[in-house]
Amino acid sequence: MYTIAPSILSADFAALGEEVHQVIAAGADWIHFDVMDNHYVPNLTIGPAVAAAIKPHCVSADGKAIPLDVHLMVQPVDSLALAFAEAGADVITFHPDAERHVDRTLQLIRDAGCQAGLVLNPAVPLDILEWTIDKLDIILLMSVNPGFGGQSFIDHTLRKIEQTRKLIDASGRDIRLEVDGGIKVDNIAQVASAGADTFVAGSAIFNQPDYRQVIDAMRAELANVD
Ligand code: DX5
Ligand code: ZN
Repeated sequence: MYTIAPSILSADFAALGEEVHQVIAAGADWIHFDVMDNHYVPNLTIGPAVAAAIKPHCVSADGKAIPLDVHLMVQPVDSLALAFAEAGADVITFHPDAERHVDRTLQLIRDAGCQAGLVLNPAVPLDILEWTIDKLDIILLMSVNPGFGGQSFIDHTLRKIEQTRKLIDASGRDIRLEVDGGIKVDNIAQVASAGADTFVAGSAIFNQPDYRQVIDAMRAELANVD
């Protein structure tokens, strides 16, 4: 029921295929792929060619496909969303404040065969969800300001997660609630209790020598959440 999505932003970029392989072997459910353009956010990362290169590595030892979760921190969105769909993305999320025609972009992502979602920054209100909920497969709440790994979880996100969970439940739709930024073994249970089901974690996993130990510890925390 819970999904752990390690962010490869904190992986060793010189050995990305091997890092993806290792983190999947350690129990990752999804691979979270952070795309930054030095325009929407003040940092520059990886593009569709890298997504296409790691896609063949997104499979578990027993042959299960591991979804590639592409988080676009780019402006404009449409052409890159299509390029990532082509590169093998399974899930594509973008920031509504980075795109004028949000409804159209959501449809474009779905038409390209991917799950579509919106990402809301810490200071962005939930209002837009009311008008997009019929086109959302996933909602991603940022619990840090986007652009960098290794930042601290912003506590008011917990209340926002609770409110978003209520909106999703009231809609009766099957929409994931993902949270991204500052998630660690010691706060993942709180994030889950607030209503999240999908957890991005970059530095908490990749900055430790034993990825399995961290993912197992996260699952042990999640097992205690009702
Ligand atoms: C931040 C990215 C996150 C980041 C999370 O803009 O969207 O996915 O990698 O890193 P941690 O888990 O270290 O906060
Ligand atoms: Zn992210």
